[in-house]
Amino acid sequence: MNLKNRNFITLLDYTPEEIDYLLTLSARLKQEKYDGIPHKLLPDKNVVLLFQKDSTRTRCAFEVGALDLGMGVTYLGPNGSQMNKKESVKDTARVLGRMYDGIEFRGYKQEHVELLGEHAGVPVWNGLTDLYHPTQILADFLTIQEVFGYLKGIRFTYVGDSRNNMGNSLMIGSAKMGLHFTGVAPKELWPTDELIAQCEEIAKETGATIRFTEDKMEGTKDAHVIYTDVWVSMGEPKEVWNERLRILSPYQVDMEMMNNADDKAIFMHCLPAFHGNDTDVGKQIADEFGATYPKVKHGEMEVTDEVIESPRSVVFQEAENRMHTIKAVMLATLSDVHE
Ligand code: CP
Ligand code: NVA
Repeated sequence: MNLKNRNFITLLDYTPEEIDYLLTLSARLKQEKYDGIPHKLLPDKNVVLLFQKDSTRTRCAFEVGALDLGMGVTYLGPNGSQMNKKESVKDTARVLGRMYDGIEFRGYKQEHVELLGEHAGVPVWNGLTDLYHPTQILADFLTIQEVFGYLKGIRFTYVGDSRNNMGNSLMIGSAKMGLHFTGVAPKELWPTDELIAQCEEIAKETGATIRFTEDKMEGTKDAHVIYTDVWVSMGEPKEVWNERLRILSPYQVDMEMMNNADDKAIFMHCLPAFHGNDTDVGKQIADEFGATYPKVKHGEMEVTDEVIESPRSVVFQEAENRMHTIKAVMLATLSDVHE
């Protein structure tokens, strides 16, 4: 297995064996970090992190991962570069590719990360776009492996906006790795027919299954994992909140749903999550819409505070795993490591 010089833009480009290799490498790097074994394996390399949108986990995972590998790191935030303002993505790619050994991109459009990947001449890693969030899936799957010991055959239920970057990527990841994926959402928030068909094709090879339902109790029955994400993603206009609350508030993940799942079911969320009145946006939405949608009146939206704070929730283990998995992606695509 050698992934040197590969981009990491969507899991569709990776085989199950390659994904498994990245997970194994992540687990090894995690153990080394826990054991205090340094792995400054890329001391002469430098990476640049391009963020058009905010981030806590992804930015810090790339920074800490790169520093642990001995690399230099530059962060360029939404206002920190010429890209997309005075300079095209293509030109930016050709400039940065001559200075850096790898480029992370978080932005609005999948086509931009693809353009970077085409023209940079160095590995480009997708740190989230409108369509996909592939590094998050590695962290999620490492976490599931840690809890259950395996991936193939896991009954995985994603509740909520199933056609956002998380819904799309979790469905692809599940198809690749042989999970039984169920999307629970109103029909208008299911992924495109094309992407579902593509995942169904992959599933034929891996033993995965893909299904969607509007029925939250049927969809969460006996699930091993219940996963959700925010109802409105970065880059969507404020005006969509009202409609999203209307169609998604019945799908808030609560204890009734968790109790309907398998006895050992875990709760997962890519974070950040709205589960209380202690965020500015959460408060704003609660103030504006709490009277119409009583479920959100305490700032709890996609998940209740009770669920996310319960022992079933593995969200912080999952968040930590962003770092170990992103480190593995950088190491695997920048060097000749072999597992
Ligand atoms: N899960 C995730 O990508 O978090 P950030 O937006 O904080 O990077
Ligand atoms: N769907 C969310 C994921 C955040 C990690 C967003 O794009 O805002």
